[in-house]
Amino acid sequence: MVMAPLTRNRAGEGLVPTEMNVTYYQQRASAGLIISEGSQIADDALGYPLTPGIHNDEQVNGWRKVTDAVHREDGLIFVQLWHCGRVSHSSMLPNGMKPLAPSAIKPAGEVYTYEGMKPYETPQAIETSDIPRIIEQYRHAACCAVEAGFDGVEIHAANGYLLDQFLRDGSNKRDDQYGGSIENRARLIMEVTAAVCEIWDPKKVGIRLSPLQPFNDLYDSNPEATFSYMVKALNKFGLGYLHVTEMGAETPGAAGPHFDVSSLRKLWNGLYMTNSDYDYASANKALKDDKADLISFGKLFIANPDLPERFAKNAPLNQPDPDSFYGGDAKGYIDYPFLEPI
Ligand code: PHB
Repeated sequence: MVMAPLTRNRAGEGLVPTEMNVTYYQQRASAGLIISEGSQIADDALGYPLTPGIHNDEQVNGWRKVTDAVHREDGLIFVQLWHCGRVSHSSMLPNGMKPLAPSAIKPAGEVYTYEGMKPYETPQAIETSDIPRIIEQYRHAACCAVEAGFDGVEIHAANGYLLDQFLRDGSNKRDDQYGGSIENRARLIMEVTAAVCEIWDPKKVGIRLSPLQPFNDLYDSNPEATFSYMVKALNKFGLGYLHVTEMGAETPGAAGPHFDVSSLRKLWNGLYMTNSDYDYASANKALKDDKADLISFGKLFIANPDLPERFAKNAPLNQPDPDSFYGGDAKGYIDYPFLEPI
């Protein structure tokens, strides 16, 4: 039972984890593994208000308190390394810069900023010569994760953020070695993974993909080919796990032609983690049917800090309150009750 990465927008000043964030993760340390909320690898990787960073000393010190607290409870915690790319806004970026993206294609819709919702801007296409700097930011964040005492890292290559924007052909129209063929569109993910694996034992590195997720206006003309290639290519690193979210499968065709995502498990030579609104019964069925080795739970872990115990005892579950998912205070964050001792 894994706690899925969950954006909660409650970091403190300087986007440093706070005492309240420490309590939140400590409360959930009975998960087999916690994957932290997405944490930006640099100032220009940020996409939303009050998401924590993992790239400077203050942030490392803040995260150190989180990892110490989780370890005191015998838990394990990976940090999710995040670059939001075009899912951002100049009002939140250094010197008012335009968000970075593979191509200058504006996503449909609006973005959540410190001043409320704003229309997306046309992002700036990353120069080929700027790509090594971005890979270096991942490497630096991976080093910060070591300093902060994490047990490993998850590379966020899902849900329409930068690495996913490169991978899918709806958002990547580049004509250099990072665009065009599937191999080229997968190149940044491969180079980032290689860089992270220079810092971390590959067995302590996971990666997350979301083949059918239309979120953040993502689309691919052939997701089955794109993601089959990606998964097979990633085998070469011997990573700790592949984390595939099935989210989007309920809106067939929105992210591109539909395919059976579970086919990816057969292409992967390691531990396979899946995710998408699983509950006790459906998760056990997926494990029994050998659809996955690990299941990550999101909303259920928000509302139930002691979810493993509740599953084990078949106890009633607290219901999550969506109004307090993103931002706010202790309410809906660290005040969900534990089971009463019997
Ligand atoms: C979100 O804030 O809604 C969000 C963040 C990261 C994800 C998915 C959703 O990967």
